[in-house]
Amino acid sequence: MPINWFPGHMNSTRQAIKDRVKAGLDVVIELLDARLPGSSSNPLLAALTTGRPSLKVLNKQDLADPTQTTAWLDYYNAQAHTRAIALDAGDKAPARALIKACRELAPLRGDMHKPLRVLICGIPNVGKSTLINTLVGKRAAKTGDEPGITKLEQKFVLENGFYLFDTPGMLWPRIAIAQSGYNLAASGAIGRNAFDEEEVALELIAVLKRHYPERLQQRYGLTELGTDDAVLEAIGAKRGAKVRGGGVLMHKAAEALLMDFRGGALGCITLETPDEMTAWRRAAAEEEERKAAEAEAARLADKERRSGKRKSSSGDAETSA
Ligand code: G4P
Repeated sequence: MPINWFPGHMNSTRQAIKDRVKAGLDVVIELLDARLPGSSSNPLLAALTTGRPSLKVLNKQDLADPTQTTAWLDYYNAQAHTRAIALDAGDKAPARALIKACRELAPLRGDMHKPLRVLICGIPNVGKSTLINTLVGKRAAKTGDEPGITKLEQKFVLENGFYLFDTPGMLWPRIAIAQSGYNLAASGAIGRNAFDEEEVALELIAVLKRHYPERLQQRYGLTELGTDDAVLEAIGAKRGAKVRGGGVLMHKAAEALLMDFRGGALGCITLETPDEMTAWRRAAAEEEERKAAEAEAARLADKERRSGKRKSSSGDAETSA
């Protein structure tokens, strides 16, 4: 799906993360959307913070399928130097569990002399501000006065010897996996002008038909599920997206479905499993390799053609001389 990414403060964000790594970083918290943990993970962040222990926080667990959340936690917890927890950003006690998990990831740090330095990152709308507000409460101590550190970075002292750093702007990844683009758009992470809502809604219907068909049927009172287009049309009819004369405004139907999904009206839903994500990543990597091989073959063919041309024109010159 073509997404019109808006680069925003990408470069300043990248620089801010590099500066933080240089100045000292013990744990990276990556806030993920529990409904799409793989797609909401940012490969650029991993590349910029290699070697640092990582805490994956699956936020909005109240909206995600609990069975799939457990599967994703197991998937991340099996990775080296990685811990994963699930929470609702507005819920105080579980949010505090995050502090404990960070301390366990860097046990040698965390006192006044050697504070634990934690960076928090996440794609837009994943709940970062909500989580920081919950964690910080009234003890906010915002500063940005460390040498070599951008003034835009915010530092919060969560408790003695525990510093949380928040970077400005966002780090937009290039979306190599089409399904990830659809899932991100469905979740509300991408501005609505950057994608086609009808296309995203149809993909969402395909996923829901595969994994949660009964939710679609219950929510919209559908006795059977036809093609994806027919389901979207039926949703539109149920949700008053009709035009005079009887047709359905498909973009209105799409909006209604996306709003229902985002607000949890369809129940607790997770759009992707760890196995699916692994398969998509593998297919995307193979596709990239195939494209690179094609580009290289085209480059070599072009080079050969040009050198053939040069030879024949120098042959022509010799013949005419
Ligand atoms: P961001 O800083 O990462 O961009 O995200 P932010 O905290 O602004 O949260 C984006 C939206 O997600 C907000 O809803 C927020 O309330 C909601 N949210 C955050 N964490 C959770 C969670 O754990 N569960 C659920 N269900 N929602 C969560 P909003 O409608 O955009 O704003 P608001 O009117 O609720 O404040």
